[in-house]
Amino acid sequence: MTNFRALPEVTPAQVAALEDLHRHFTLSTDKLHAIVKGFLAGMDRGLAKDGEELAMIPTFVQIRPTGQEKGTYMALDLGGTNLRVCEVTLKGSSQFSILQQKFTIPQHIKQSNARTFFDWIAECVSVFLTDHGRDTSSTTETIPLGFTFSFAVAQTSINRGTLIMWNKGFTAEGVVNRDVVHLLQDALLRKHLRVTVTALVNDTVGALMTSAFQNPSSVMGVIFGTGTNAAYYERLDRIPKWLKSDAAQQNPHHSDEMVINMEWGSFDNSKQVLPLTWFDNSVDRETQNPCMQVFEKMVSGLYLGEVTRKVLLYLIDCQLLFQGQSSTELNQTHSLDTAYMSTIVADETPELLDTQYTLESVLLIPATTLADRHIVKQVCMMLGLRSARLSGAAVASVMSARKDLLEAGICTVGIDGSMYEFYPRFEEYMREAIAEILGQQLTDNIVTTLAKDGSGVGAAIVAMIADKQKALASNNDNPIV
Ligand code: BGC
Repeated sequence: MTNFRALPEVTPAQVAALEDLHRHFTLSTDKLHAIVKGFLAGMDRGLAKDGEELAMIPTFVQIRPTGQEKGTYMALDLGGTNLRVCEVTLKGSSQFSILQQKFTIPQHIKQSNARTFFDWIAECVSVFLTDHGRDTSSTTETIPLGFTFSFAVAQTSINRGTLIMWNKGFTAEGVVNRDVVHLLQDALLRKHLRVTVTALVNDTVGALMTSAFQNPSSVMGVIFGTGTNAAYYERLDRIPKWLKSDAAQQNPHHSDEMVINMEWGSFDNSKQVLPLTWFDNSVDRETQNPCMQVFEKMVSGLYLGEVTRKVLLYLIDCQLLFQGQSSTELNQTHSLDTAYMSTIVADETPELLDTQYTLESVLLIPATTLADRHIVKQVCMMLGLRSARLSGAAVASVMSARKDLLEAGICTVGIDGSMYEFYPRFEEYMREAIAEILGQQLTDNIVTTLAKDGSGVGAAIVAMIADKQKALASNNDNPIV
């Protein structure tokens, strides 16, 4: 355990509180193994039938990109905070270029209704086309578009799927249980835009496709950002619910594998395995979807700052921090952005001046002592470490399920998201946890890499795959293995 006693100016009571928190937030190797066991069982259940905690959604993506693909596609990436409209040109030789425009999604749009929501998206597409001189009114051709929609969707084909539930602060009415491609296509038609939605893609699938376009050994795409989730190539013979489905009868088998969107954020919604603390439960209870996305709420950027904020308030109320004084700012839900934690954890100045700035000038705490700042830094470190180790357990679970691939050689995992990209030492801690679970030798076979712009590029690649699968289906019925 960290020697909290060595921190400058801390009192014995503060040390005791830190030790207690450390006990609650630390994940031992045994606990990691228990989580992997739970994950593997949950994956099997989700692959066997619908409606399980881990949704394990077949994505209809069966082909692996080769990197030689060429073509220009539009992509829409609806993430947690922004909408990005992109034009992606796949140039072959694993090269691509991307032209993109970012629109911040206003709060009132997130909370509007289906028509307002999709009309706003279509308007952004229209602005992009106008700004970049891509007027579609004079052509008869339509532009193919891949739609990355970073929410849980039950897919019914490569370009069809109904929203299972909103999360991450989105509540627009009339979208749940409806086909989001239909809703988008109708909105594009209302604006007379000649754009056809040919692919519906989860952001994790986008990350996997982008990684695979650049590296053929890619087996898994992961997001550690506002939310968290993963997609991976699973063998068809391990997906009983797919084999039994009408969709499988109607769709030719393009290969012996399919990308599965796990929706791992909802792992352990029943709270049987994860070591939830009082703070986690308190955050969960105040969200739009209590007892849902339980794993995501312990790992991802949208919630990490909030759990940390709860811990700081607890220490304040115990008179162990900031002389018992909070601020109006810190009392606000979600005021402690996870990005501030990255700054604090990275602060190596002797007086912790970056931490002081964040606490006093951003969160408006009247005054902080050096001990206060060290305590805050330690709390942030504990929470970040826990998130990275839980992430490692999740990645290790998937790689255990695909041990056949891992034992055969390098497996690349394409990862995107702010936690992975910016949180200090996130990747190192995640890999340490993977090694504790799988052993160093197998861990050395796992290459983790940033799948930057995965959602945009990946959507374009899936739009291309949709064309390919369609052409293959109409040309011959023979499976390609
Ligand atoms: C959504 C997933 C998404 C993930 C990462 C989760 O909240 O349910 O579909 O992949 O966030 O963006």
